[in-house]
Amino acid sequence: MDTTSDKKFLMVFAVVMAVLTVIGVSVAIIANVAGSLDYKKSSGQVKLAAERIAPVGKVNLASEAGTQTVAVVEEDDGEDDPEALYNVACAACHAAGVAGAPKFADVAAWDPRLNKGFETLVNNAINGIGVMPARGGSSLSDEQIEATVEYMLDAVE
Ligand code: HEC
Repeated sequence: MDTTSDKKFLMVFAVVMAVLTVIGVSVAIIANVAGSLDYKKSSGQVKLAAERIAPVGKVNLASEAGTQTVAVVEEDDGEDDPEALYNVACAACHAAGVAGAPKFADVAAWDPRLNKGFETLVNNAINGIGVMPARGGSSLSDEQIEATVEYMLDAVE
């Protein structure tokens, strides 16, 4: 092969590459345009199909949960159930006798305290006594504390 045919080859090669590049770019552009057209069309169809197969009703979980909460509050939120109040606010210490707390249903632990009288025990539970914080650290009302103390004392009397 001589240098003339090398040059010729390079020329042809360059031209072919240029043509291929132009074709490649135009194909890419056409594909892009055609693709977006097709997408718009099909997305319309997808929407239509979604409408056709849409369920008749929708369950609104959020508001249903809200209703349920309201229903629970109306029926029983444990506000007047001393056992529930005890479990939430007092059992942490009194179930196991943490930090010297008189244990639930432990007659020996409660016996010396019973002499103080119900009122005093309730007042001490409301205001706190020794290590026990006021109301056991809860936000129970005086009435709720009283009911809970009554519940605790019922277990040892
Ligand atoms: C952080 C732990 C803790 C929690 C929570 C707690 N208590 Fe106590 N409780 C104690 C301890 C400790 C004592 C003993 C205090 C003492 O005699 O020095 C005690 C004592 C008592 C007494 C006896 C008081 C007395 O005069 O002898 C009553 C009644 C009582 N608690 C009721 C409750 C009630 C009702 C609740 C829930 C609302 C509650 N406690 C929550 C720790 C706790």
